[in-house]
Amino acid sequence: MSELEELHQRIASCTDCDLCRNRTHAVPGEGPPNAELLFVGEGPGFYEDQQARPFVGPAGRFLEELLASIGLQRDQVFIANVVKCRPPNNRDPLPGEIESCRKYLQQQIELIQPKVIISLGRYSLAWFFPRDTISKVHGQTKVKDGIYFMPMYHPAAALHAGNMRSVIEEDFKKIPAVLKRAREAPPAQAAPVPEPEQMRLF
Ligand code: URA
Repeated sequence: MSELEELHQRIASCTDCDLCRNRTHAVPGEGPPNAELLFVGEGPGFYEDQQARPFVGPAGRFLEELLASIGLQRDQVFIANVVKCRPPNNRDPLPGEIESCRKYLQQQIELIQPKVIISLGRYSLAWFFPRDTISKVHGQTKVKDGIYFMPMYHPAAALHAGNMRSVIEEDFKKIPAVLKRAREAPPAQAAPVPEPEQMRLF
């Protein structure tokens, strides 16, 4: 069994915070173990908890559409969450729950070594950049710890507020250019990423 599979087994049986009490399944995340792109959401919802898979409900369908818009299928990217168990009634994760779960996303990043991390929503942004505000930094390229980042609004936001949809769609178009830059330039020498253009990724 790979280290990532072992990690996911530990997550599946984790009892480090109270979210384990109400879960049906923990949702470690899924994707190629060497994915170049890592998407990080907030936490499992109803459908994810039922199926033990990330982003399989309505927000997941929109995420798949967004991926398709840049020529990608979900099995080409890694999809994970800040917390691995569903908060009751889909409430926001509590600070203590996020801290209990921090080690798991940290280890996933170390094992997968993605070239670009796309944070989805404010909890995911805060996990990486606690001082930033999503309305200010969404769609901007950032660099931290040798990895490129692209913060985005959460796809579920588009399901509630119509005008968010086009904002997220525009931000998504920037991913190919960031990935191209990440492949070419080590983040230590990170240069500004050019304007989005149509590029094939794979
Ligand atoms: N929303 C998230 O943040 N993560 C999921 O896995 C599903 C919905």
